[in-house]
Amino acid sequence: MIADIQQLEKAALAELENARAEDSILAVRTKYLGRKGLLTGLLRNISQVPIDEKPLFGKRCNEVKEILETKIDEALQLQTQGEKEESLAREKIDVTLPGRGIRSGRIHPVIQIRREICDIFASFGFSVVEGPEVELDYYNFEALNIPKDHPARDMQDTFYIEDNIVLRTHTSPVQVRIMEKVKPPVRILCPGRVYRPDSDVSHTPMFHQIEGLLVDKGVSFADLKGILTAFLKKVFGDDTTLRFRPSFFPFTEPSAEVDIRCVICQGKGCRVCGQSGWLEILGSGMVDPAVFQNVGYDAEVYSGFAFGLGLERIAMLKYGITDIRLLFENDIRFLKQF
Ligand code: DAH
Repeated sequence: MIADIQQLEKAALAELENARAEDSILAVRTKYLGRKGLLTGLLRNISQVPIDEKPLFGKRCNEVKEILETKIDEALQLQTQGEKEESLAREKIDVTLPGRGIRSGRIHPVIQIRREICDIFASFGFSVVEGPEVELDYYNFEALNIPKDHPARDMQDTFYIEDNIVLRTHTSPVQVRIMEKVKPPVRILCPGRVYRPDSDVSHTPMFHQIEGLLVDKGVSFADLKGILTAFLKKVFGDDTTLRFRPSFFPFTEPSAEVDIRCVICQGKGCRVCGQSGWLEILGSGMVDPAVFQNVGYDAEVYSGFAFGLGLERIAMLKYGITDIRLLFENDIRFLKQF
């Protein structure tokens, strides 16, 4: 019987030696020390042990039981520690690797230009206002002296939402909305998005404009020239040369387009200015009395001038960008140059 215990101890220790995972260690415990375990079974049979062997038998059984319990506990401890070490090794962080770096954002070139122009006109006493992008036909066209079926509507292709509602094709409708609300003097600047179904290297279906309007007693074409000259010299530099070219807009009379001497070739003629030496920058004119009438201003007492310009175009000229679509692709490598 004593020999049985010896054998059992040997077998149990050998099995424990081979048990790596927690499960197999626990299985050894159940097999030998569990309620129906082998050692428990031996002890239960103590009645069959010859009387003189009983004390020794009992002692050995208890010894083996203790040894096994200790060894099993140790094995379990080693096992959890091993697992911990393994997971630490797996999750090891290499603190010597260089960091990822945080890329700083930039103000988009079009927004930079918008801010610059708003600042310049703020210094001339203009305040910045905004208007809706989804606009009534009335404000976008009619009130600006562009009646339905007027050929001037052909100048601006239009996205129609409904018969009488459009995506505004220019920022000029804001002039009318403001004049309906406030009495002269008026000095406003209106930046915003405008929409036309156009798309090529110099047109996108959405682009940005800034509209300006000044109305007061005694405003003349000389004021228009003075303000726009001062403005363009601030944007393009003091030695900028300007040209006022007669033009037509239904909402101004007389009207003028303003060109600057080409900033790329200094007037010699190049691809950007189409060999003309001049770059068209903005449309302008003295507010047409018909527009004043629509908003209830007395054209005998008040006069004013207005102008409108495209921000993408200014940004392209100022930064030498040749394809307008680059401004909308949001490629960080392009944008971070400005
Ligand atoms: N609204 C015109 C356009 O989009 C630009 C313009 C021209 C605005 C003359 C004006 C102006 O206020 O007086 O083409």
